[in-house]
Amino acid sequence: MPKLIYLDNGSTSFPKPEEVYSFMDSFYRHYGVNPGRSGYELCIESGDILEQTRKLLSDFFGGTDPNRLVFGLNSTDGLNQAIFGLLKPGDHAITTNLDHNSVLRPLYHLHLDGVELEYVPFDSKGFVDPDDFERRFKKNTKLVAMNHGSNVIGTVQPIAEIGARCKKHGIPFLIDASQTAGMVPIDMAKQNVDVVAFTGHKSLMGPMGIGGLCVGEGIEIRQTRAGGTGVRSAQKTHLEEYPYRLEYGTPNLLGIAGLNAGLKWVKAKGLEAIHAREMKLTRKLRDGLKKIEGVTLYCQDDLANHISVLLFNVDGLDPANTGTMLDVNHDIACRTGLHCAPLVHEQLGTAEIHGAVRFGIGPFNTEEEIDKAIQAVAEIAEGQRKKKR
Ligand SMILES: Cc1ncc(COP(=O)(O)O)c(C=O)c1O
Repeated sequence: MPKLIYLDNGSTSFPKPEEVYSFMDSFYRHYGVNPGRSGYELCIESGDILEQTRKLLSDFFGGTDPNRLVFGLNSTDGLNQAIFGLLKPGDHAITTNLDHNSVLRPLYHLHLDGVELEYVPFDSKGFVDPDDFERRFKKNTKLVAMNHGSNVIGTVQPIAEIGARCKKHGIPFLIDASQTAGMVPIDMAKQNVDVVAFTGHKSLMGPMGIGGLCVGEGIEIRQTRAGGTGVRSAQKTHLEEYPYRLEYGTPNLLGIAGLNAGLKWVKAKGLEAIHAREMKLTRKLRDGLKKIEGVTLYCQDDLANHISVLLFNVDGLDPANTGTMLDVNHDIACRTGLHCAPLVHEQLGTAEIHGAVRFGIGPFNTEEEIDKAIQAVAEIAEGQRKKKR
């Protein structure tokens, strides 16, 4: 069987580093008990990984207080908590056309309940303009919630500049760092970010089912759930203080352990070094695809401020069919369609052709795999040209 060429790292990174698999296995065998619920030694020891990972992640995002790093299922879960917990009817919120449904849908649900909503478009290179946000600020603007790195066109947005404008007007600034956490440096203080939503299973190299929020000082997200925390159980209401404020029930300790190992792997290899290598492969892929007649690429020329995803179409071919051919004939895994970000495709004009094909490059891809992917797309485009003749 030919080896699968996995170019769907934008969806989830695969494979994971060996260190992640082996740590999860040994951790769960030795410490797989409910942390923080009892006083016996194993329980306390199992809770250590939770607190250690809180600190690691909080430091990684430039957070000020590890207790304000709260764990949840993934970034969708964190974004829901933050968006529903920061807005109420009558408020005004701003997002962008680059955003994923995990931002757009919670906001839209709130819009149906009376939250005013605006969408900032991106320019021809794929970037939003910080001044465009400031022009839209109103007295009742209570949140800017937006994508950091686009999972569709790959552009990394000028969050520091947008955050500075939010700060000037006292508006909380929430970023969806699903694609960037572990790939692009994030420093909440330097970049004026109030809340970071992250997911563990992409560039942080952890497993699925773990993610959360890093919440800045002074940001008090209302609880939209309540439940057991293992602390002050006689209290009738959910606890107010972080991290309990936004954590409910038994945590995904195995996921946290895997994320701990993933993050340590990223730090040991060096985020910048990993990203530089991924971008080298992304440029090679871009250069190869650009030369193929009948392929449309949706990216800026220099790929500056970019993550390692590339969007393209083979002209005249439904992206789903291109994806099937890549899979069936070439053993290449990619992602096709609208990528849960319908407004990007509407603005690009690709919505009516059912979206596009996305290659997502990860730390374990090789030059040889990129050559094969270019060759595969060239063959598909050639077949398409022959059909037209
Ligand atoms: C930009 C962006 N936001 C949010 C998400 C949702 O991530 P998760 O499914 O881990 O919650 C994704 C995942 O593809 C994404 O790319």
